[in-house]
Amino acid sequence: MPQIIAVLDFGSQYTQVIARRIRECQVYSKIYPFATTAAQLKADGVIGIILSGGPSSVFAKTAPIPDRAIFELGVPVLGVCYGIQLMGHLLGGTVSQSAHREYGNGTLTIQKAGRLFAKLPKKLRVWNSHGDRLIALPPGFAAIGTTENSEFAAIEDRKRNFYGIQFHPEVFHTERGIEVYKNFLFGICRARADWTMKDFIAQAIADIRARVGKSRVLLGLSGGVDSSVAAALIHRAIGKQLTCVFVDNGLLRRGEREYVESLYQRNFKIDLRVVDASALFLRRLKGISDPEHKRKIIGNTFVNVFERSLKSIGHADFLAQGTLYPDVIESVAIAGNPAALIKSHHNVGGLPARMKLKLLEPLRELFKDEVRAVGSSLGLPREVVWRQPFPGPGLGVRVAGDITAARLEVLRAADAILQEEMMDSGWYWKVWQSFAVYLPVKSVGVVGDERNYADVIALRIVESKDAMTADWTRLPYDLLQKISSRITNEVRGVSRVVLDISSKPPATIEWE
Ligand code: XMP
Repeated sequence: MPQIIAVLDFGSQYTQVIARRIRECQVYSKIYPFATTAAQLKADGVIGIILSGGPSSVFAKTAPIPDRAIFELGVPVLGVCYGIQLMGHLLGGTVSQSAHREYGNGTLTIQKAGRLFAKLPKKLRVWNSHGDRLIALPPGFAAIGTTENSEFAAIEDRKRNFYGIQFHPEVFHTERGIEVYKNFLFGICRARADWTMKDFIAQAIADIRARVGKSRVLLGLSGGVDSSVAAALIHRAIGKQLTCVFVDNGLLRRGEREYVESLYQRNFKIDLRVVDASALFLRRLKGISDPEHKRKIIGNTFVNVFERSLKSIGHADFLAQGTLYPDVIESVAIAGNPAALIKSHHNVGGLPARMKLKLLEPLRELFKDEVRAVGSSLGLPREVVWRQPFPGPGLGVRVAGDITAARLEVLRAADAILQEEMMDSGWYWKVWQSFAVYLPVKSVGVVGDERNYADVIALRIVESKDAMTADWTRLPYDLLQKISSRITNEVRGVSRVVLDISSKPPATIEWE
């Protein structure tokens, strides 16, 4: 039986981040609904319990309260934020509703390092996010740290191995927060650091098999990282019971469809159905130049095509999606916590509900870099695992103005040159996104002795961490020159190449 650290989820937006930090320490963690019984945790063999933060106050009528017997299991408990207040409230201390919230950076002064703060400096910058606070200790506890506004910002009961902290060591703003978790895991719970992504894969495969049984699963494969990894993982679990659908919407880059076919059909032997709907998409987009209108048409057409293709494939019970944790981060419910409000960006336009499909989302507790590690472990090539993001509406939002087959061809040719040069120079892997944009502007050029009145291509190459902000990449002039002259020489119908040097904000990454 693997060692499990149980994270009881009280609805904090950071619950998954706690689980992730534990995985980073190579220890297996599992998120449990807050009301999970102590008997269940015991049966699962948990070696430590973390009580997550949460939006509630222990005084609220609807406050989520765990099974009190968890404090009698004889395993160490760490309460974080709402978790420390719960410990105070349930174990005989006093919690008070504070008039002013403590939010943002603060300084923790460690009074007693003990096991939880072993090897840490006396003062730490920590991240707070709470209203209530503990004002009197429960019996058996001692204070081990204070902040500007909390006398009991960190507490311990050494005998029972109970610890409470008011701040959030899991977030990046807390200095050396990972060491607090390491101290809890290794110094207090005596965990072994032997869990790897291979274990995640084995567990996920077992879970998928148990959930799906002999049923059939469908997956809309886009060729992006998330759906690709989900497909490879589910295929590993249930093989032929998985059918993937790839829709060619006519807005793909050069060679994209062929690449997906060769990788998944030939290489991975996945049952892949490629649906060529390019004519339908282009027909519906004819004469449409407003970006939002284009997006709507593309989204709706995708749903129509997908739905139709499912009919020809036959009955299925599950729709698989490559939803990641950041896709659900705005919701507060993953594993049955109080406010069951799940938002799924990848949800294909209400399809699952309409077609009575159950959702299968094996990556929903992972972060992007973890998904990449899973993909590599499953044997997906670097080109897929480290692929740059590509928008759902594809080249539809990279042809400014009306979309025509001719314009798409010009853009594809220019974009292929850009990608080739980015790959050859190694810059492809260093930037967030690099792509060409077709501008519906004619400009005058000269070819030989002839006037050439032709199209303009813009190069958009940006650096970013999360697409929320971005800056244009300072590519070497020689490389830019090579890209530009290759495009004007090799792509018929382009007279001029321009470089987009706008940051986000105020511009966005895509042009439309
Ligand atoms: P913007 O242009 O808003 O893009 O700075 C931020 C990131 O999102 C991608 N993007 C989209 N992805 N559907 C998608 O799936 C869309 O409609 C869409 N628009 C932008 C964009 O490529 C960038 O990575």
